[in-house]
Amino acid sequence: EATQSVHKHLSLADAIAFEGRPQLLSVDQFSRESVEALFQVADIMQPIARRQKISRVLEGAVLGNLFFEASTRTRVSFGAAFCRLGGSVCDTTGFTFSSMAKGESIYDTSRVMAGYVDALVVRHPEQGSVAEFARATNIPVINAGDGPGEHPSQALLDLYTIQREFSRLGKLVDGAHIALVGDLKYGRTVHSLSKLLALYKGIKLTLVAPPGLEMPSYVIERLGKHDMVIEQTDDLEKGLAGADVVYATRIQKERFQNESFEGYRPDFQINKALIDSACGADTMIMHPLPRDGRPDANDLSTDLNLDPRLAIFRQTDNGIPVRMAIFATLMGVDGQVQRSMRDA
Ligand code: CP
Repeated sequence: EATQSVHKHLSLADAIAFEGRPQLLSVDQFSRESVEALFQVADIMQPIARRQKISRVLEGAVLGNLFFEASTRTRVSFGAAFCRLGGSVCDTTGFTFSSMAKGESIYDTSRVMAGYVDALVVRHPEQGSVAEFARATNIPVINAGDGPGEHPSQALLDLYTIQREFSRLGKLVDGAHIALVGDLKYGRTVHSLSKLLALYKGIKLTLVAPPGLEMPSYVIERLGKHDMVIEQTDDLEKGLAGADVVYATRIQKERFQNESFEGYRPDFQINKALIDSACGADTMIMHPLPRDGRPDANDLSTDLNLDPRLAIFRQTDNGIPVRMAIFATLMGVDGQVQRSMRDA
């Protein structure tokens, strides 16, 4: 089975463990082999995600979905993924309706929740905070975004989407040209995705950001240790030229500290005219969403909505099987799902 052959004597859960526990805090926990093994589990999950097949491997299990920052897709898709495997979900959103509003610590919150639920998905505005939740308990804890830190499940579903679309187009991820565009300073999804891409060979990564919102130097230094060509520019048309994937991100003005949003050029928008002039017929256009929906926003324009190169809703759809695969792996039922699907 895919998950037992990742490393000679290790299950996938053991291969990606965080400090010895079945938890997902960062993409740093993955090797190329373990990414590919997780994607094989996600492939097996596809018919269950679409309700063409039924699995109850998590029947009786309860997920605690703790979101201390706004979310639509991550919160709902983690919940739906758990339910699709037969489990049920307890949700809490925002600090106001949590006892953290009364000063309760992350440690106490995590210890208490571990007595109520079988796994935790946590989003929190502070970098490193989800690791604090994880260290307080032995149950699976998944980082659903820790401030400007990481968003590992988003990066995994992004890479899964790239791999599936490339396979359809007869292309390999190795050697691909990927342009990451927008707020690369505060966009945690691009921090995680660029590190996952570094596991592949000969990637060309073009980092296209407005001045002041460039990729942090600690991420660039990490990427520089891999077989990867990195270019940085603030010229959109130049940065997108010849890219196999254009991955746009929203300007995260809610995280700004000393930056002034008003100072940004109004022309930092990815729209149909730009894509038609800079990119090819099979360039993938991606975005983790949400995007700024105003017509003149410095983001991904809605005039690409009917363009088949736009992969954003295929990305969101892939969030379910990838998150199902993460749960099944961390909760030790991945082999059971594989066997039941093979026998079905
Ligand atoms: N991509 C993403 O994290 O979306 P949400 O903020 O809606 O969860």
